[in-house]
Amino acid sequence: MLEPLSPHGQHPAPDDDFLDAVLHGLSLRNKSLPSRFLYDARGSDLFEHIAKLPEYYPTRTEIGLLKERAREFGAALPGRAMVVEFGSGSSRKTELLLAALDRPAAYVPIEISAAALYPAARRIAKDFPDVDVYPVLGGFHDLERMRLPLGGSPLVGFFPGSTIGNFSRPEAVDFLLSARRLLGPGAAFLLGVDLQKPLDILLPAYNDADGVTAAFNLNLLARINRDLEGTFDLGAFEHAAIWNERHHRIEMHLRSLTGQCANVAGRTFSFAAGETIHTENSHKYTPEGFARLAGDGGWEVSRVFIDEKRLFSVQLLA
Ligand code: AVI
Repeated sequence: MLEPLSPHGQHPAPDDDFLDAVLHGLSLRNKSLPSRFLYDARGSDLFEHIAKLPEYYPTRTEIGLLKERAREFGAALPGRAMVVEFGSGSSRKTELLLAALDRPAAYVPIEISAAALYPAARRIAKDFPDVDVYPVLGGFHDLERMRLPLGGSPLVGFFPGSTIGNFSRPEAVDFLLSARRLLGPGAAFLLGVDLQKPLDILLPAYNDADGVTAAFNLNLLARINRDLEGTFDLGAFEHAAIWNERHHRIEMHLRSLTGQCANVAGRTFSFAAGETIHTENSHKYTPEGFARLAGDGGWEVSRVFIDEKRLFSVQLLA
């Protein structure tokens, strides 16, 4: 069964949202752009490619955990559950979770990209004929206005990939509080959370030898050129991935190689040689640090699954 729900909220961010964010971000003293704009069609393809790179350990480690500890997930989570996935994308990891659970009843993928949402929802409905699938088109900022289908099933939230690491601390707390309100009392929440680790593992994961992450980052300038009448010279910027020790995060930047100007929608922005545009944060947690964040967001960690190399965690919150 496949029954699209109305989003009870906004549709994907319109173009003027992108224009406003770019004009604002490039006007700041420390130029920055929101990382959500990295994911146009080409950016999403490049991210799929990153996920398969030898240096990028998070995806394969999380998939390994979901496969190898499937029995434990099945035992720790309720039977006949409704799984609600936040930012479901291609729903590839969902298949592993649904297979691990005891007779899952329903699946609600929440996703801002219609092109990703509906094909994935159809695939899950076909592969799990006993699971009712209710795709919801919407973003994280819509959660307050969303309503879940009624049915009396126990609820299990799912947010894999350590996407929570891309949020600032206040954004992460807000997200956890909204998810708690949406899922309601008694729900469980399974999240992928990347862990702090030595820099010789961390830095190559965000600056791979084939330059795929660099292309992913630089694609943001290509998107501005295409969609906002931008005049960025892509050859005059380089990708930089930096560890910020104070905030425990990898930061992606685009560094200007020379003094230069670029126009966006008729406005001119100047760049000094070496000046950067900050394009993404990817926070890395200790289990204790994440437990504090979860607590501030209204949840309690009830179990933590970590791989043998201690690279990545899947956290079960109650
Ligand atoms: C989607 N997100 C969890 C990725 C990360 O690792 O922070 C995005 C990414 N940026 C560069 N490589 C991957």
